[in-house]
Amino acid sequence: MCGIIGIIGKAPVTPLLVDALKRLEYRGYDSAGIATLVNGHIDRRRAEGKLVNLEARLAAEPLTGTIGIGHTRWATHGKPSERNAHPIATDRVAVVHNGIIENFQELKAEMEAEGRRFDSDTDTEVVAQLITSYLERQMAPEQAMGTAMARLRGAFALAVLFSGRHDLLMGARRGSSLAVGYGDGEMYIGTDALALAPFTKRVSYLEDEDWVVLTQNGAKVYQGTQEVVREVRQSGISGAMIGKGNHRHFMLKEIHEQPAVIGDTLHSYLDPATRTVTLPALPVDWAKVSRLTMTACGTAFYACMVAKYWFEQLARLPVEVEVASELRYREPPMPKDGVCIAVSQSGETVDTLAAIRYAKAHGQTILAVVNVPESAIARDSHGVLPTLAGPEIGVASTKAFTTQLTVLLCAAIAAGRARGTLSEVDEAKIGLALIELPALVNEALNLEEQYRRISEEILAEARDVLYLGRGTSFPIALEGALKLKEISYIHAEGYAAGEMKHGPIALIDELVPVVVVAPSDAIFDKTASNFEQVKARGGKLVLISDATGVARLGSQAAASVTLPAVDPLLAPILYTVPVQLLAYYTALAKGTDVDQPRNLAKSVTVE
Ligand code: AGP
Repeated sequence: MCGIIGIIGKAPVTPLLVDALKRLEYRGYDSAGIATLVNGHIDRRRAEGKLVNLEARLAAEPLTGTIGIGHTRWATHGKPSERNAHPIATDRVAVVHNGIIENFQELKAEMEAEGRRFDSDTDTEVVAQLITSYLERQMAPEQAMGTAMARLRGAFALAVLFSGRHDLLMGARRGSSLAVGYGDGEMYIGTDALALAPFTKRVSYLEDEDWVVLTQNGAKVYQGTQEVVREVRQSGISGAMIGKGNHRHFMLKEIHEQPAVIGDTLHSYLDPATRTVTLPALPVDWAKVSRLTMTACGTAFYACMVAKYWFEQLARLPVEVEVASELRYREPPMPKDGVCIAVSQSGETVDTLAAIRYAKAHGQTILAVVNVPESAIARDSHGVLPTLAGPEIGVASTKAFTTQLTVLLCAAIAAGRARGTLSEVDEAKIGLALIELPALVNEALNLEEQYRRISEEILAEARDVLYLGRGTSFPIALEGALKLKEISYIHAEGYAAGEMKHGPIALIDELVPVVVVAPSDAIFDKTASNFEQVKARGGKLVLISDATGVARLGSQAAASVTLPAVDPLLAPILYTVPVQLLAYYTALAKGTDVDQPRNLAKSVTVE
């Protein structure tokens, strides 16, 4: 996904645009650019690669003006280059875009046949060219925008600058988040409240098919030709929340925020006095639910995998989990009285959005576990279970994952109580363990030097790494492998420990470290035998367990991490911390870009 910002004001706009782009860079960093009006003419500065390259360009060739737009790009159509960097412009308009214009080839061919010349390989250029063609037919900007929108198919969030028009900035939204910020004699449009946080807390989110005209003193929002009103809310995001604090990276800051944000999330679901769980009002009678489907992508999908165990164990509810990009095309039969839970940090992941739309069309009640309550996925759901992780800037998901797990465990508890499969005594026991959880996570964080040493001495030079786990530790093994892959670029695979003997054990030699995630729970002995099978073949083992497990197997490991004892039900949340920090310190040792790993973006809003 890309980041968009537009500002119409009275102060020099370039530094404000760059400041906003710094907060949007996590969304995509293949290239960046800004455009302003200088004496009525559109002027641009663009640069391939990270924002620092654009800043260098601006230092060498400053850009004046008090109205402008900016963009950070995660390339979809047209490779990362200055030529394809937004803003994409003609002599009449400059456009920044997040999304995909699905019929751009058809529109491009139509306009090239009319003699229009295209300068880029992007789908976005058809928007600029379409609006320009309508302006050339003497349409007003408002009419040109509306006419262009009607021709476009696909998803877009747009900000548009018009040459000769210092008095207006326009935007439009279909399927990709876009927000309007209200300042004092200055107005803003941007991808999300995060982008606008440095300027204003007064934000309103546009709806699909909205288009908006911004002037210095306000905004008018339209659906078609009908003016509509969009609620202006007080954003809770402060400048401090989106800084790195005294941490070297956003990812490290967000890993260390986990005790606090797990606590904040628990505070909104668990009564510490009665140790009982209360969910937000949901259109679900858990006692009547026939089956639960859970869907997500990436790390969020691993949260679904863990929750499957919890709903089956505590609520005796049949659960199917499926990655969203498969569910939406597999088109599975959906049961009567079924519920579908979507899990998404951003709430904008297009595959997850498509999957819940399929499930909704097939009669499922949709619940969303999201970190952004005003996101598209939240808005498309019948009920929302918010995580209170706060803004997550690091591309690799960390605190969002552990708060997703926290919310899902609370939901499984509430479902078990409603279905009569979880006694009050057992609910209170789990509730007490949850109250203790933030402190245990903090203890796991305090083992940082151990993670650093293991990363530098064992993982950083590996060609491949295997992660093993059983039960709810299996999805944590998958998550550990994903974390390592996405920020250190070392190939890693997560496996169900019991699967090793069915093939993967052929991979074992002294060059392939094996990280075993194994709390000393009821299935620990089974994992112990897998551990010894690997050891017998010369494998280099890293054991993540508790004192009991390390006493049993630690002597056979190249390195061990001893976590505090925890209720086995909560182990996947606690055991996530070591795999996050092993990935972090391995990436540090490799010198890769921890917060903005190559080829990635924070949320994938395209297929
Ligand atoms: C996680 O570290 C990755 N960045 C990625 O797998 C992410 O979890 C996935 O893209 C889903 O994003 P979402 O939670 O915003 O839907």
